Amino acid sequence: MRTRLIKVSPSGKPNSAITEAARFIKAGEVVAFPTETVYGLGADAMNAKAVKKIFEAKGRPADNPLIVHISGLNQLDSVVSEINDSAQNLIDSFWPGPLSIVMKKNQKVPNITTAELDTVVIRFPSHPIAQALISAAGTPIAAPSANLSGKVSPTKAKHVVSDLNKKIPIVIDGGPIKYGLESTVVDCTGEHPVILRPGSITYEMIKTVVPDIENLSKKSELRSPGMKYRHYATETPITLFTGQPKATGIKIKKYLAGQDVNKLIVLWHDGDFSKLPNHFKLPANAYEAAPILFDTMRGVDMAAEQIIIQGYPPEGIGAAVMNRLEKAATEIIEA
Ligand code: TXA
Ligand code: MG
Repeated sequence: MRTRLIKVSPSGKPNSAITEAARFIKAGEVVAFPTETVYGLGADAMNAKAVKKIFEAKGRPADNPLIVHISGLNQLDSVVSEINDSAQNLIDSFWPGPLSIVMKKNQKVPNITTAELDTVVIRFPSHPIAQALISAAGTPIAAPSANLSGKVSPTKAKHVVSDLNKKIPIVIDGGPIKYGLESTVVDCTGEHPVILRPGSITYEMIKTVVPDIENLSKKSELRSPGMKYRHYATETPITLFTGQPKATGIKIKKYLAGQDVNKLIVLWHDGDFSKLPNHFKLPANAYEAAPILFDTMRGVDMAAEQIIIQGYPPEGIGAAVMNRLEKAATEIIEA
């Protein structure tokens, strides 16, 4: 299969290209498209055969359910059977935007989309191209991140092409995206709402509108089927240093003392590693690091035999950044 790359301005206009991509969705094909978080690989969420193509293209295990994307609140009734108070508060506060909500599913959603669960994750993206595509397709779109299963999520169209070339018919190139980390996932089906996956809508932000929100816990690992799989895997092994910036800087210096520094690359933001033969300076602020993190990980992959990453304090968006880095790491060293 030939993969066509269609460029569309981030505003989604003119939308003739989007109309064409929507025709593919209606015909039961898959289309990669930008959202404000990462690029998604979409298909008609209500068409089991179409959704199967997503699992095939990504090599995704069938027991890992998909997020269903909508372009307006009028589509909610067709995909969920109940919206409770905490879900409604989250909707009012954060939609459209990078927050996904687990709700009781409507029986019309095929089992393959939700991996047989009686719940479904819904997201109303804010990206104009994502909204225009869903609207033009006239159906909710199921979409995981548009990477090969287990690999780093794509934040540029070229990442999608590098993983899925010849496996999908269309990639909509809307340029780089805003947040660079997948959406926050909140489960609203239990007694208390729980953050299953941290993201750009942080625990601290959610707490202001849903005071009984619980933060990511071991419990949630069982409740989100995708969490048991390795994610964000680079070819090159990653050693992650966790702790406060000063402490990680000192620990990395000590670690490097006994090493052949030509064989490794250090991604750092505090201390001074600029004299090393291979290094990349990340922004000191996790908010600025998040949008370029996955692109940087892809960019330095295979550039050395080992990647060393200086972590961020796990507060605010730092919690989401560290969640991804801890999944990506083959070794974690606490400073
Ligand atoms: O930002 C995003 O959320 C991107 C863009 C494309 O929207 N999508 C994305 O999808 O990251 P994916 O499939 O890579 O991650 C979805 C996560 C997985 O960890 C999955 O296991 C979990 O959501 N999930 C899906 N349905 C679920 C359900 N019913 N209950 C609990 N967790 C669920
Ligand atoms: Mg993913």
